[in-house]
Amino acid sequence: MNSVAVQPKASRMSEAELDRRADVCRQLLLSSGNMAMQGYSQIDAAQPVEMKGPQDFLTETDGKVEHHIRTTLAAVFPEDGFLGEETGGSGGSDRMWVVDPIDGTANFMRGIPHFCVSIAFVQDGRSEIGGIANPAIGEVYFARRGHGATRNGAAIRVSRTQAFDRASVEFGWSPRIPNRDYLDKVALVWSLGANVRRSGSGALGLAYVADGRSDAYAELHINAWDCLAGLLLVEEAGGRVNRFLDGGGMAKGNPVLAAAPGVAARLSQVIGVPLDDE
Ligand code: IPD
Repeated sequence: MNSVAVQPKASRMSEAELDRRADVCRQLLLSSGNMAMQGYSQIDAAQPVEMKGPQDFLTETDGKVEHHIRTTLAAVFPEDGFLGEETGGSGGSDRMWVVDPIDGTANFMRGIPHFCVSIAFVQDGRSEIGGIANPAIGEVYFARRGHGATRNGAAIRVSRTQAFDRASVEFGWSPRIPNRDYLDKVALVWSLGANVRRSGSGALGLAYVADGRSDAYAELHINAWDCLAGLLLVEEAGGRVNRFLDGGGMAKGNPVLAAAPGVAARLSQVIGVPLDDE
């Protein structure tokens, strides 16, 4: 009888393998946060700021932190793939680390302490681990799928807000989307009665939804490194999110929406970004 060799798909990781990755992710958030603070403390003297495009900044620290994370992960988990904001992708796609070394670079280079390191681990198209560190104020957010979300080790939950006249929605902006489209959507959210803010870090914007500090975060286009860790935080903190990775989100980005359950459905309808379970 002829037999057909079937190539086995890489098996799902054991809990122990995920635990190891979670530990390394936590350590990297701390070491990378320290490295980011070194750059931040020398911001006037030593930080050359290059432009990758309009309103898109690159400091020396972005490159140093990404190099640190990338080389550490390659040494400890050589079988895992990597996608970073500054150096792009390499390696397999079924097990991937997705990293933004400094999210909120425009804040970082102006001396505004609202920036972070964001690290996600994705297996078979699903985020399993997400960590975000804001070293300037000593906050570390962490989530593991099925294990909840924390800030500095304490459990966090999304807000219970139901009414838009008390809701605070962060609406991210970038030059990747025409300003007219951005303004039209923001006007719709304002018309619901919400307070609309923008703080310049998509990753922290999402962490703040998980933490109940904001009721929602939306952006019409964002990249995977800016949002995957934050989206897992929101899910694990009881919020609702869109299916960001559908339709090639990992490679080319997508719209993002993450919200507390009390405001999610209406917001999704108004800005036209469907939620995960719709
Ligand atoms: C940007 C920030 C910003 C968001 C943009 C991102 P960067 O990332 O997260 O808040 O609105 O979409 O590109 O350039 O600071 O890493």
